[in-house]
Amino acid sequence: MQSDGTVNRGAPLSAEALAAMPEHLASAWSESVRTLEPQAAVLVVDDHDVSRRLSVAILEREGFEALAVQNGFEALDLLERRLVDLVLLDQSMPGMDGLECCRRIRANRRTSLVPVLMVTSLRVEDHEDDAVAAGADELLSRPFTPETLRIRVRTMLRQKSVIDRLEEAESILFALATAVEQRDPCTSGHCERLAMYAVSLGTAMQLPHPQLLALYRGGYLHDIGKIGIPDSILFKPGPLNNQEWRVMKTHTLRGEEICRPMKCLQPVLPVIRGHHERWDGSGYPDGLLGDEIPLLARVMQIADVFDALTTERPYKAALTTREALRVMQHETDAGWHDPALVELFECLPHDLLRDTAHRDSTGWNSMDAMRDSLDRLRRAVG
Ligand SMILES: [Fe+2]
Repeated sequence: MQSDGTVNRGAPLSAEALAAMPEHLASAWSESVRTLEPQAAVLVVDDHDVSRRLSVAILEREGFEALAVQNGFEALDLLERRLVDLVLLDQSMPGMDGLECCRRIRANRRTSLVPVLMVTSLRVEDHEDDAVAAGADELLSRPFTPETLRIRVRTMLRQKSVIDRLEEAESILFALATAVEQRDPCTSGHCERLAMYAVSLGTAMQLPHPQLLALYRGGYLHDIGKIGIPDSILFKPGPLNNQEWRVMKTHTLRGEEICRPMKCLQPVLPVIRGHHERWDGSGYPDGLLGDEIPLLARVMQIADVFDALTTERPYKAALTTREALRVMQHETDAGWHDPALVELFECLPHDLLRDTAHRDSTGWNSMDAMRDSLDRLRRAVG
């Protein structure tokens, strides 16, 4: 509190300082914090009446919305109805203990990313492994001071907000990529089909999950650099001249630059940059040859070519799967594509995949939806 009676919103306030404050000033402080940032909701799960009330009091004094339940079953029930920003979870409870409750929170797609601060009356060193294995983010031993709880909760919420912002940024990039696609009505649905085909081929190659995720994201983001290409070139009805081609080819580098600042998109950058390279070195932007071309970029190129061939455009009809594969084989014989990948791609049940892509297209708007679809794809790929 400043000498003039105003609240210094920039400085943190300890629970003790808040407790020493007259009630009307304490509520003014709490109100000022609420207006600064959205009120975070913390769920306190504790069967012990006194410690539950104490935790709630500390959290509310910090300006959080504190929800309280007495056991793991009630916690899971509440989390089904509303999301919270953090769970403060007692490890030892009758019925369902904190470890089992934490495992179930992690197993539920809606709550799998909610931070869990496990509280134990036992020695942390003896139970840390169990807590971590159950999915807890932090373990706090009793007794703890209000200050300790405040710092832990604040720190964990700060980390969560960084992750939330990253997810938001990724969503914005996906929206941008979709906007690029929608500039051309002929390419509607191209990104999600590409994601589907690329992930299908990656699944058949038994690539690990992080690489499948990079292919999924690459399906959406591979052409995001076209946002910087003028309409006069992007939608030119006739063939491009040399200068226009030079500009068009820059979409790979522009796309890489757009996505480079995001750490989680680092595995996608080679896909964006390299999806127009050719096996014989005649592609762009780097003229890479054979294995020099990043593997995921080679996968994406095959998905891209297949989708272009099997999609109707104003200047051409859509080829059937069989016709498209024949064209791709000719191109492979001419040296354009990785022969081993094309051979594997030819073995995929494309009609089935296309049906799956159409059926799932509206649902592929989140990582969770993608994981569900992957299970179906694995069955389709066989
Ligand atoms: Fe492209």
